Amino acid sequence: MNDDFESRVRDALANPENQGELADADAVGTVGSPECGDMMRMWLKFSEKDGKRVIDRASFQAFGCQTAIAVATMATRMLKGRTAEEAANLSAEDLGGELGPLPPMKIHCGQLVEGALRNALGGTPAATDGPPNATAPTLAADIRDQAATGGKLRVVPIDE
Ligand code: FES
Repeated sequence: MNDDFESRVRDALANPENQGELADADAVGTVGSPECGDMMRMWLKFSEKDGKRVIDRASFQAFGCQTAIAVATMATRMLKGRTAEEAANLSAEDLGGELGPLPPMKIHCGQLVEGALRNALGGTPAATDGPPNATAPTLAADIRDQAATGGKLRVVPIDE
């Protein structure tokens, strides 16, 4: 793994994992960052292992920056095998794993991932804000639905 943050992010993006809808998920969480407008959705699938209910798979979709996607890749890897309680105790920095500490300008990118995880686990997103456990199958579908039905999410085309 490279020793500067940007290189570690590039490495993670070169090997993206766990992206996309988890069709048979047990939990889904969606948040939007008030800081940059990016959004993330995380799906969790649980299974029984050694008498404990643990996360078997985690996946995500993002309208977000490279750092958020890299942190989500690391996070969805490390969530496997953890209980909901263990997962809920992970901070944004923990979730970044091998990426190491996030630069000050990127801390909210990690918090977007932390918020999606907490939203999926049923807690209150930390430092993020957005629709609670959305029901549309994909993040893009949710944005379309909310735009069509006048939901809380406001979508403004960039060419206006
Ligand atoms: Fe928005 Fe990174 S700039 S999540």
